[in-house]
This record gives sequence, structure tokens and C-alpha cells, in this order.
Amino acid sequence: MKDGPDLLVGLDLGTTKIAVVVAELDSRSGEAQIIGVGEAPSMGIRKGMIVNLDQATRSIQAAIEDAESMVGLGIDEVTVAFSGAEATSVRTKGMISLGRSARQVTMDDVDRIIEAAQSEIAVPVNRCILHTIPVEYTLDGHPGIDDPLDMTGVRLEVELQSIIVPSAVIQNVVNSVGKAGLEVSGLVMKPLASSLGCLSNEEAMAGVAVVDLGGGTTGVSVFSEGRPRRLSVIPVGGDHITNDLACVLRIPISRADALKKSVSLSPDGFGQNEKIEIESMGKTLSFSVREVVEVIACRLDELFSSLVVNELKESGISMMPGGVVLTGGVSRLAGLDAYVSRLLDMPVRVAGPIDANRMPPGMNSEEYSGGAGVIRYILEKERNPYRYIESDLPSEGAVSTLRNKRGARGGMSAGNGRKKAGDGTLKTVMENIRKSVKDLF
Ligand SMILES: Nc1ncnc2c1ncn2[C@@H]1O[C@H](COP(=O)(O)OP(=O)(O)O)[C@@H](O)[C@H]1O
Ligand SMILES: [Mg+2]
Repeated sequence: MKDGPDLLVGLDLGTTKIAVVVAELDSRSGEAQIIGVGEAPSMGIRKGMIVNLDQATRSIQAAIEDAESMVGLGIDEVTVAFSGAEATSVRTKGMISLGRSARQVTMDDVDRIIEAAQSEIAVPVNRCILHTIPVEYTLDGHPGIDDPLDMTGVRLEVELQSIIVPSAVIQNVVNSVGKAGLEVSGLVMKPLASSLGCLSNEEAMAGVAVVDLGGGTTGVSVFSEGRPRRLSVIPVGGDHITNDLACVLRIPISRADALKKSVSLSPDGFGQNEKIEIESMGKTLSFSVREVVEVIACRLDELFSSLVVNELKESGISMMPGGVVLTGGVSRLAGLDAYVSRLLDMPVRVAGPIDANRMPPGMNSEEYSGGAGVIRYILEKERNPYRYIESDLPSEGAVSTLRNKRGARGGMSAGNGRKKAGDGTLKTVMENIRKSVKDLF
């Protein structure tokens, strides 16, 4: 691949499918053009967690091969979006003085203040920081500073949001991707990836919540002033609806899944007494469309009215003029937007990848927001390495993380930020993990 085009590859580890989105980077404009999408059914991943390493590895290999054959190029490096189930989010603040008289903020100051805010985090044993996201800078008491570099003042403050995940979850992701013969150049929590994939900048600025309805999990992200304020994962998804239908109606899972996709949650769907007949284990089972819709609605009521509402409250963001954006496979359920709008009493729309017109037909719908979002994540990180800081394991200490960021910004100006942005302590940790895997197999 060395003499070939500069590829950005996003690998979305879903519970239903593994999607691979390949983009070509135009190093002069810094823009990326999606050139192909590959996918394979996801095996060995349940509720967003890898439960069978070999199966997950084979699924990843199949998805990568699919993408490689579409773009006609080899893939050896990927940025991985994984569910981040069991992730917790911690807010900390840092403050530094810039001296007695006002002066311009330097990169060292930004490093120092992030270090100061990070030092407030008590990372529990066996957990590590996945993302550190500066939520807001305040200069001389004026909040809402987007990028403080080169601005003038005497006192700089920052509020950081850090996403903490079990170390073993990251290790399993890195191990399965490594065993598939790929290098991991970055990790991103899925709710962040899918929201970057489907949100416009205007929506993120105005305030909006994204609900990514996948197979085994539902990701929730709340944005305000262009920044993610809360990222979380609920271990309930479309597969639960399918299981509910299979249990209540006593039909096989495959029939339940097809039935789920065939009905509408519009008032018409609820009013339909039309009978459906299904043959199962030698018996003919009969029920109405209304019964099917009611089972689906029951699970959705629990998910949105209780679990999603709770996440929106926890975000502390009360103004969301952008309403709620639904994405992920389940958002394709007919009539879901109006139904959820009634449940939440908020404007709701369904959205697929904003780059959909650059993606192959049939592989550009709502399920692909996560994969497309990884590409946007890589680009945003390159443009501003202080926006999403991929952090390191706690034992490595904050200093090395900061060294990583300096290298990344330096690399950007040289026009090759992609390679440098990946040279972090997280990468070192991953290399160590990979080494230990090689020893094992
Ligand atoms: N048209 C549809 N109507 C309802 N549910 C759908 C539809 N298409 C896909 N789904 C459901 O969406 C889920 C998969 O979503 P996806 O975003 O691909 O999951 P993941 O990211 O977890 O792999 C499955 O539960 C699947 O049954
Ligand atoms: Mg998905």
C-alpha cells in the first residue's frame, strides 16, 4: 500500500454486521472521498462485547476482504469503532495561570491544562481512558472558547469529559483486529462515530441528541455547541425486539426478524386487525398485525421513555433545538420517527450517513452511519488533535499522552498527520497487547 493512495479505513464492529468504510485522502485539500464499503455478518459479538475472539476475527477478515475486493486495494490499518458498552463518563476541570500580565496561549499551555484536568481523574483498577474530550475552555472567566491557542489572557480553564472503559474490552477489540492481520491506528466509541457520521455541523452546534439503534445496543450521544456532552451505550437493541416477538408469538427468530421489518408503527399499523399466519413446528399460528406492533411498541416504550430519557437528563443539556436524530438499523422501522416524537415530545428525524451520496447504493442507509462516522472522526482528529484525544492506559501516565498530542499537531502542519496522530501511547499499549497475543498463539 506504500506507493498507493493514502487510505483511511473505518471498521465498525457492530453486533449485527461488521462494516468497513474505505476513503481516499486528498493530502492537498485534507478532504476524504469514500471509495468503498465492505461488510460481513457479525459473529462472536454480543451486546457490544466480544464473546468469541476467533469468530469475531473471522467476521472482521470477511468484512475486510469484501472491502478490499470492492476498492481493489489492500487494507492493513484500521480505526475501529466499538460499542463502548460499560463505558462511564467523568467530568473534570483544570485551571492554569498564564502569568501576571496577559499573553497568548501556547501549545504548552494547552498541554499543561489538559494534564491538570486529567490529574483529577481517579481511573479505577482494570479500566482505562478511551477518549478525553475538551468540552469547553474558559479564558479570564469568558466561557465558550472553542480553541484557546493564540488567544490572549491571564487565566485559562478547561472542562474535560473522559470516557473510561474496561481495559479488557479494549484488549479484546485490539486482539481480534490484530489476529485478523490488521494494525489498529485508532479506537473510537461507537456513539461518537455514528453521530459524527449522520449529524450536520449546524445540528451539533444547535444542540441535538443522536440515538443509534443497533442490533444488541443503543448508543446515545448528546451534542451542544458542536461538542459531545454525553456518550453512552444502553445494552438493548433491535435483537431484543426480535426476541420479544419470538417469545410472545412463539415463532422462530428468523420469522420474528422479518415480521419486525414488515410492520409500521404509524396509527394505521396499530389499527390493523389483518391476520398474519405463520407455520411453526407443524402448527399454524395466527395473530393480527396490531399484536405485532404492540409487542414492538412495548420494548420501544421502555427503551425511549425510561432508558433514553434518563441519558438525555444525565447530559445536563436542556436546550436541544435539533431534537432527536435516530440512526442505526432499527431506525428504518416504518413510522418510528413520529412514534418516538410522541413518546419524547420532541422533534425527531431519521438520518443515515451525511456522506450517503458518496457511498455505494444499498450500503449507504442508516446502518452505515457508524462506519462513515469513523472517517469523519479521523479527519476531525487530524484537523485538530485537541478535539478528541485518544488517551492511554493509566499506568502510562498523562505526560506521554501529551507528547503524543504535540507530535500529532506537528505532523498536521507537515501534511502527514494521519501517521503521526496514531503514534500514541495507546498505540504502544496496543503493540504490547499484540506482542502478548503473538506469544500466546
Ligand atoms: N427495515 C428494518 N426495520 C426494522 N429493523 C431493522 C430494519 N433493518 C435492520 N433492522 C434491525 O437493525 C438491527 C441492526 O442494526 P445495525 O445498525 O446494523 O446494528 P449493529 O450496528 O449493532 O451491527 C437489527 O436488529 C435488525 O433487525
Ligand atoms: Mg449500527
